[in-house]
Amino acid sequence: MIPFPRSVSFVVLICCHICLLATEAAEPLITNIQAREQISLNGKWRYHVDQYQTGSGGFVPYSQDIKQESPSDRVEYSFDDADSIWVPGDWNTQKPKLYYFEGTIWYRKTFPSPATSPGVRQFLYFDAVAQRAEVFLNGEKLGEHEGGFTPFNFEVSGKLKPTGNSLIVGVSNRREEDKIPGMVTDWWNYGGITRDVRLVEVPATFIQDYSVQLAPDNDQQIEVTVELDNATNGQSVSFEIAELALSETAEADQDGIARFLISTPELQLWNPENPKRYSVSIESGQDKIEEQIGFRRIQTSGTKLVLNGEEIFLRGACLHEENPIRGGRAYSEEDARLLLGWAKEMNCNFVRLAHYPHNEHMARVADEMGILLWEELPLYWGIDWKNENTLGFAKQQFSELIRRDKNRASVIVWSIANETGDNPDRNHFLREVASHVRSIDNTRLLSAALKKFADHIGERHDHYIVNDPIAEILDIVSLNDYVGWYQGLPDSCERKSYEIAFEKPVVISEFGGGALQGFHGEKETRWTEEYQLWLYEENLKMFEKVEKIRGLCPWILVDFRSPLRQLPHIQDEWNRKGLISESGEKKAAFFEMQRYYESKK
Ligand code: GCU
Repeated sequence: MIPFPRSVSFVVLICCHICLLATEAAEPLITNIQAREQISLNGKWRYHVDQYQTGSGGFVPYSQDIKQESPSDRVEYSFDDADSIWVPGDWNTQKPKLYYFEGTIWYRKTFPSPATSPGVRQFLYFDAVAQRAEVFLNGEKLGEHEGGFTPFNFEVSGKLKPTGNSLIVGVSNRREEDKIPGMVTDWWNYGGITRDVRLVEVPATFIQDYSVQLAPDNDQQIEVTVELDNATNGQSVSFEIAELALSETAEADQDGIARFLISTPELQLWNPENPKRYSVSIESGQDKIEEQIGFRRIQTSGTKLVLNGEEIFLRGACLHEENPIRGGRAYSEEDARLLLGWAKEMNCNFVRLAHYPHNEHMARVADEMGILLWEELPLYWGIDWKNENTLGFAKQQFSELIRRDKNRASVIVWSIANETGDNPDRNHFLREVASHVRSIDNTRLLSAALKKFADHIGERHDHYIVNDPIAEILDIVSLNDYVGWYQGLPDSCERKSYEIAFEKPVVISEFGGGALQGFHGEKETRWTEEYQLWLYEENLKMFEKVEKIRGLCPWILVDFRSPLRQLPHIQDEWNRKGLISESGEKKAAFFEMQRYYESKK
């Protein structure tokens, strides 16, 4: 092997890093990607492990897909001869040698380009890549993306060949101090191209984005905004809901934006009991989009939550994005139906999608099933609150999430943090994030999963106070609460009292405890299903006494993988607080929650 002269390699690596920072980020997202003309690039991709993160222009130029042309050529990798891996999917559960791998893996997909008619434009769209991506097409860098849970796309019009296109993606799941999430999480650090990859075709002028919502102060009016890409000034845009015999036309302004305010006296509002959706169509020039949209209004009134003018109690459950039966990251519509089906079976009308944006199928299936959703960014535990780049990542990823899910009736809460300490840097950071979120979407409620603290009453910690100042900017005060697991035993619940220093609705965003499914014994024996059931019974009685509580979210619906959970023969790298095991078996506490929620209907 020819050793790189140290000075050259050092310069090369520095250049790499600089160009990474300077390189263009992804382009404006195409809304409702599932409805577009497309070819799926899912399937088997080849891959090389870049153990030392040498990068795209480093020691081994993976991004260039170099091949040995003559016998004397020196090439020290070969995608053609490399192992393959499924996309979508994490690498940890596909390849035993990659179970714990944290670093960069280079993926390659070769594909032909469909013959296109003149003017048609082509985009590569990634539903997500965990945690960051550098994307190359036929050796040319298209750009990069930071964040493992939100979509991004690049225009590739004119860059594709009829056959043999080489799409190479450098994927890194390395944890980094200035990223979100930070360095420690209670979930598995999956890496890979974990969601769909699509080659999308749109007309020269196309419908880039649109928002279809109830008007801010009138349930019999809908407000529609359509954004065209490459529009001519005054271009006509039409909006239709056939079921309401509603058809309107508007002209795009000089920015390609058309606005409608439409009277809809017969509109039926969406709610969990009757998740009514309408087939909406938007057309302009050569482009036409259709999708199912529900209309509803979520508000607070003092300490109450109000959906379509009626008070609502959130019968919730928390979920990680894992299909525990197949193993690894969930990504498909079938996965969404499995997970949300379990929530429905437990009589839930609400699901907290923890602790990061889940795949788009979740909100679409929740719209159909009538399940309200809490969505969040992984501003979780230790974040580099002082770092402007970190704040930039948070704003970028919230912009991507809200752009993707803003037309989903099911989504009612954007959450900006989980269990983060009250300090000036964190409060400034979260105020910035909150105003960014509200500037994009002020139709949904803002929350954060806060910590409480126990005020001493004598020698015991029985009086809980929630007075985190960040709650002043939130619509819902949420708190994670582990009485009977991290604080005392379940019989201590009856002594607890709560003081919520805000006249706002309260949601218990987490509570619960662990059990190994099938492990039975006395209720005082930790990890038995009896202990978990006892804990739930006592917590539910305790919460009944806290009048501001307007929703409960047991942590968690399904056992999930976590490196923090090492107790042999009980955890074995699984967090056992699920009400359902990783094989889909329901624990005794599942049925307690099912009964309790039945009584709350
Ligand atoms: C925390 C945290 C969760 C974690 C849970 C637990 O509150 O928000 O991500 O998994 O508690 O300890 O199981």
